[in-house]
Amino acid sequence: MAKYSIAVLPGDGIGKDVTETAMMVLEKLGLNAEYRFGDVGWEYWCREGNPLPDRTIKLLKETDVCLFGAITSKTAEEALQELSPCLAGKGYKYRSPIVQLRQLFDLYVNFRPCKAFPGNPLNYREGIDLVIFRENTEGLYAGVEFHPLPSEVRKILEKHHSAMKRFSSEKDEDIAISLRLMTKRGCRRIVEKAFEYARRFGRKRVSLVEKGNVLRETGGLMIREAQKVAQAYPEIAFDVANVDALAMWLVKNPEQYEVLVAENLFGDIISDLAAQLVGGLGFSASGNIGDHYAIFEPTHGSAPKYAGLGKANPIAILNAVVMMLEWLGEMDRAKALERAVKQVVFEGKVRTYDMGGSASTTEMARAVAEKVD
Ligand code: NAI
Ligand code: MG
Repeated sequence: MAKYSIAVLPGDGIGKDVTETAMMVLEKLGLNAEYRFGDVGWEYWCREGNPLPDRTIKLLKETDVCLFGAITSKTAEEALQELSPCLAGKGYKYRSPIVQLRQLFDLYVNFRPCKAFPGNPLNYREGIDLVIFRENTEGLYAGVEFHPLPSEVRKILEKHHSAMKRFSSEKDEDIAISLRLMTKRGCRRIVEKAFEYARRFGRKRVSLVEKGNVLRETGGLMIREAQKVAQAYPEIAFDVANVDALAMWLVKNPEQYEVLVAENLFGDIISDLAAQLVGGLGFSASGNIGDHYAIFEPTHGSAPKYAGLGKANPIAILNAVVMMLEWLGEMDRAKALERAVKQVVFEGKVRTYDMGGSASTTEMARAVAEKVD
């Protein structure tokens, strides 16, 4: 029996192209694993009214970890238009598979390393090497939203908060509310993960990204919990930055940051900012990690205009594979793959279009596979 059972969900568009090359590289690495392919994405929404069929959830439950390609998603109106006619009018509603999976498997850490490979023509600057821990299940993305504002909810809010007075002339249907919901447990566990990582990998500094001077209650809770966690790690410096100021500092002095930790929305935004500093969508990967399961993916989408053309840069998914190997404890293989990617980027002989070259997805992946020792 294989040592690991790995679920592979290629998804749509270039998700399929890059997943194929990831499999080639995994084979070269000689990981002792069985790969079980599953269905996810737009095709299954259109055909079955569900982009994440139950059989796929079952598959994930039977495996150790998941490698996810990329999927297509569209607006609610488009989703209904493209639904198979025999399913129309039956109340099917599109829900993002990756958001569903994060909740279903309690994948509360969104882990995003942003490392500048030396010599990458897309680097904003050399020497950047930071990691972001984004809370993945609550905050402003908790999913508690209202529009129109139900009158009972409105009455309660008016009763409990004087700031609601300013909006008293607005009609219920003219108000939308998204709740920024934070829990002590949610704040604590994401900050703990950031500090544990810093300790394990010898990082000297953890920076919390918040906005406590304006979002006093939610931001305040996060800051207080983080300060408590920080006490257990006296060897690691801890600071709190306002998200807006941090966006500027991250562009000005990106090499000064080591570990950033943030609530869901803030983390989402700074993750993309940081990703662009080190090569953008062709390089960026993330891990959705819980206590018992994890899903690793490139952060790019299905890029429909490049689907099947073999142009997409596979380095993003290969970086996801590196993270998956680390998570499985396969440190030597993770290092070997990372080293291989680094070498190919440094040599600069094989470059995909986003790096200013003309190599195909497969040519890039093959170049990496050849360097794996
Ligand atoms: P996208 O990430 O698919 O592509 C945007 C552009 O970035 C592409 O047109 C291409 O120029 C470039 N790009 C992306 N990946 C690349 C790669 N590996 N190598 C080189 N260049 C690359 O974002 P877009 O166009 O906004 O969304 C397309 C579809 O993907 C939508 O349906 C969207 O909802 C979905 N999406 C899915 C995600 C996921 O599966 N996690 C994440 C983001 C978008
Ligand atoms: Mg994002």
